Amino acid sequence: MALLVRNLAQIATPSGRTAVRGRAMRELTLYENAVLVVDGGRFAFVGRESDLPNDVTIDDDFDARGMTAVPGFIDTHTHLPFAGLRESEFNRRLRGESYESIAASGGGIASTVRATRAATQEELAQNVLARAATMARYGTTTAEAKSGYGLTRDDELKQLRAIRDANATSPVRLVPTCLAAHEFPPESRGDESARDAYVDAIVDEILPAVAREELAVFCDAFVERGVFTRAQGERVLRAGRELGMSPRLHADELSDTDGARLAADLGAASADHLMQISDAGVAALAASDTVANLLPATSFFLMSTKYAPGRALIDAGGIVSLSTDCNPGTSMTESMQIVMQLATLQMKLTVEESLTAATLNGAYSLRLAHETGSIEAGKRADFVLLDAPSYLHLVYHFGVNLVRHVFRDGVQLP
Ligand code: NIG
Ligand code: FE
Repeated sequence: MALLVRNLAQIATPSGRTAVRGRAMRELTLYENAVLVVDGGRFAFVGRESDLPNDVTIDDDFDARGMTAVPGFIDTHTHLPFAGLRESEFNRRLRGESYESIAASGGGIASTVRATRAATQEELAQNVLARAATMARYGTTTAEAKSGYGLTRDDELKQLRAIRDANATSPVRLVPTCLAAHEFPPESRGDESARDAYVDAIVDEILPAVAREELAVFCDAFVERGVFTRAQGERVLRAGRELGMSPRLHADELSDTDGARLAADLGAASADHLMQISDAGVAALAASDTVANLLPATSFFLMSTKYAPGRALIDAGGIVSLSTDCNPGTSMTESMQIVMQLATLQMKLTVEESLTAATLNGAYSLRLAHETGSIEAGKRADFVLLDAPSYLHLVYHFGVNLVRHVFRDGVQLP
């Protein structure tokens, strides 16, 4: 069943089956007065209407009425399976309390851990589905989703099983990550030996149980002052890798812990956050195949003026991607559009670089660049129709949802 999507003002997409690095990120492929043909869930033809071969059989026809097609967005860092919300902590932050002091008083990650432990697997799956529906409405077709609010073997498994369950009907393709090393469990926080015991439990019990059920593709750790040390993070990520889970890393978010270099040395799929990355960290990432995954909505939501040095990372030749960090504490949004707007207006990426970062480079960091992340014949037909005459409106026309139609695997999402 071939579907013709016609009357597109423009198709705008990065190209290739791998990441695009450095300034090549600004080279988009553009077709004006364009059409798409989708067959068997994949793109069969992409190009100008005048170049459409006349021997293609078309079964169905979709009039895009002058809209612009871009690849479905790829959100590679989310904490989707959580219960409970933290709007009152947010209000405390608005009155001047810091994120760290709220966390130290028992709020922060610990309060979401309490609510998540109290929730059933089914409730968590429902929460994931509700958030995935919002993501899809805003143009996301693939998203990574992390555990990390359980912090016991059973509660981490519950979160990951909820992602698996949701993925059966989710409009967004979900890629699971085990983030058991997100924080120390509240019951073992102050005590050094209890902390060590938790790292042992991650390595000896939690990760092997996750691997047995094949519940995660990636393993992540939050290496941060007062949370996991570099050595603890490295131990967890190496153990995950032994079990077949590639490393990702929350690196240099609130302080510089040389996390970027650790991620590059480990050959991690991504180093995420990087607000406090050092110049040496920028150089190490730029010289590696580890994706610098930037989350500008987190800086924005924490009311920080400090954004990750996206411009410098690209100018140094790095591979940059963008994500929401969707979570109840530091970034309560599902919208990749606001993320691209912040990346462009605050981190000084070009619109073209932001689009490449939000699509193909994200696909690469999830090891899916051969399948999705660009509009090209042969790839999965994951694309978005924007109510706009060109891709520039993604940033120019900010603060509104430009997405009118979303297709994943060639199927229009409701
Ligand atoms: O990515 N860095 C750690 N984790 C989250 C925050 C989680 C929370 O506050 O619940 C982040 O910013
Ligand atoms: Fe995060």
